[in-house]
Amino acid sequence: MEPRKPSIAFKEFTFEDVKKTTAEFLSVSIPEVLDPQYGMYVWPCAVVLARYLWTQREELTHKSVLELGAGVSLPGVVAALCGAQVILSDNARIPLCLENCRRSCEVNGLSDVVVIGLTWGEISPDLVLLPKLDIILGSDVFYEPQDFEDVLVTVAFLLRKNPSAQFWTTYQERSADWSIEVLLHRWQLQCVEVHVEDCAADECSPDRHSVHMMMITVKTQEDHRTVTS
Ligand SMILES: C[S@@+](CC[C@H](N)C(=O)[O-])C[C@H]1O[C@@H](n2cnc3c(N)ncnc32)[C@H](O)[C@@H]1O
Repeated sequence: MEPRKPSIAFKEFTFEDVKKTTAEFLSVSIPEVLDPQYGMYVWPCAVVLARYLWTQREELTHKSVLELGAGVSLPGVVAALCGAQVILSDNARIPLCLENCRRSCEVNGLSDVVVIGLTWGEISPDLVLLPKLDIILGSDVFYEPQDFEDVLVTVAFLLRKNPSAQFWTTYQERSADWSIEVLLHRWQLQCVEVHVEDCAADECSPDRHSVHMMMITVKTQEDHRTVTS
């Protein structure tokens, strides 16, 4: 018997200059799979991160970008269409998610995006062999508190290898008890909040107010000195 073909629905996104100073415009189509797993849909965090990337499109040209937990990969696809060299990744143990990454690239005519399996917290050959990175993306990767440290272990490994890189991540506030502050301190990382009010997921979405963004970087010797002096 042949394996059942996944049931797919296409979600369309348009990006334009909100200030209307240019006529620049981008249209992206993302295939969503009708399956109850997390990596099959575009989450509100992905829309906010993708809209933020669009505002930074001039900075993205020729940058080396890796997306973690990409799922259907809206942010990574937008970064690639803005001229970045993109690598998409998702859990190495869920081939369906990696298939989604590939399908999103195919639908948007992106033939030079690389897709790899990267499981958070695991130092695998694929992780170690990554090229130099400028920006790491992660939308809605902080959603299971038990995985927070694994995400940050991977991020800390990559930021130590690429000290001038930044981790751009959007997250949804699902509980007031959740915090990564202690973990950032443990892995010698620091973060700044980015204002993304102009990058709302969807005017009608009840989730849009709870999406936030931060940029995480590695703490330098200088940062340590400033804190301890
Ligand atoms: C909430 S979904 C977000 C998907 C996508 N970034 C978005 O915002 O639309 C979380 C993603 O993280 C991936 N993921 C979960 N656990 C993971 C792990 N241990 N290592 C790598 N990826 C993982 C899932 O497969 C899924 O694609």
